[in-house]
Amino acid sequence: MPSVVLIGAQWGDEGKGKVTDFLAQKADIVVRYQGGNNAGHTVVVNDDEFKLHLIPSGILYPDKVCIIGNGVVIDPAVLIRELEYLAGRGINTDNLRISERAHIIMPYHKKLDEVIEESKGDAKIGTTKRGIGPAYMDKAGRVGIRFVDLLDRDEFMALLERNLKDKNDLLTKVYGAEGFEKDTIAEEYLGYAERLRKYAADTSIIIHDALKAGKNVLFEGAQGTLLDLDHGTYPYVTSSHPIAGAACIGAGLGPTEINKVVGVVKAYTTRVGAGPFPTELDDETGAHLRDRGHEFGTTTGRPRRCGWFDAVITRYAVRVSGLSGLAVTKLDVLTGMETLKICTGYRRGSQIIRDFPASLKVLAECEPVYEEMPGWKEDISTARKFTDLPPAAQNYLNRISELSGASISIIGVGTRRSQTIVKETLF
Ligand code: IMP
Ligand code: MG
Repeated sequence: MPSVVLIGAQWGDEGKGKVTDFLAQKADIVVRYQGGNNAGHTVVVNDDEFKLHLIPSGILYPDKVCIIGNGVVIDPAVLIRELEYLAGRGINTDNLRISERAHIIMPYHKKLDEVIEESKGDAKIGTTKRGIGPAYMDKAGRVGIRFVDLLDRDEFMALLERNLKDKNDLLTKVYGAEGFEKDTIAEEYLGYAERLRKYAADTSIIIHDALKAGKNVLFEGAQGTLLDLDHGTYPYVTSSHPIAGAACIGAGLGPTEINKVVGVVKAYTTRVGAGPFPTELDDETGAHLRDRGHEFGTTTGRPRRCGWFDAVITRYAVRVSGLSGLAVTKLDVLTGMETLKICTGYRRGSQIIRDFPASLKVLAECEPVYEEMPGWKEDISTARKFTDLPPAAQNYLNRISELSGASISIIGVGTRRSQTIVKETLF
């Protein structure tokens, strides 16, 4: 099976970085296909911790080709900083390829992200303020600047001029903020162009040729299903598509070329940013999960909201992404808890809801229906086979699988690469 798509099946931060890093061992190419540096992936190799935002986690292996696909929005300053950070830690980045069709995040996108959020008052999305939304707005509005345009001085200057006129009007006249100078942006960005030029490629061809040659390609999703622009808790979503279908659009291949789709889920649920969250625990148990699981954002450092595992969400993720398996991460965080709860449906008045609702008003009125299961006390961090896990942990995983409607492929029992149980081989 040469191609696997790995996506987040909750609200992001499921631990995709670690699972990608693990699966990348057997991959030839690792591809990012949506989002930008709103993502934050933490990967621990031996005793070294790496934090990545834009470059695929596969970069930590010297022999893998890593691709930033056309569906990603790129902040060149962040990318260059990340390249330097990796170089400083002895990681070779020569195998990185960046799609010429990927859109570029401009300084005005970041400013707009800030002022639009501010202007929303109580209706704030809680964005990462990295300019992601405004960059995708320009892409959909057909005024964006792509990597290939940045690499062509004349084209870039023309697009910049056209954009700045509108953006400065918007910033100064609507939001009362300061505008930008063309020359300042040009100098900065044309410098980035020279630094990044060598990575430019038609990345769809690289992927296509690799698949034809029978090589293994891993598609690494960012964020999670409930942050999807179409299928998430709109408007509390990101502006791209974290579901599996986006791999085709964001990397330039057809659905017939995808063999397996794996959803990464935390053994409990977290969310960062605003919006409804039915199983949220605003109590000591929530605080315990946050402490034990180190639930603070990789990108913004914000404390994550924590709650019980919600099978309504994972069942939904299985449906909209066609998940063939689940990778359950951070199971070790639950060790020592007396009783575990799994949400099997929502109660709204006298009604039981089994399918994730579209209306946020309905969602806000939903009370989780829980099933309780006994926890385990044994240390599971050294388990390497499913059968090494205590029966209570096995039962918990089996129940998650049953309620979600997908098998368990991988289980994470600690932060290290080696602390991983493979139940089903993917490559
Ligand atoms: P944006 O992507 O910066 O526009 O933020 C929109 C929403 O998505 C906010 O609630 C963010 O907290 C959330 N978000 C964006 N990226 C991530 C991520 O990588 N992990 C978790 N939440 C994210
Ligand atoms: Mg993250």
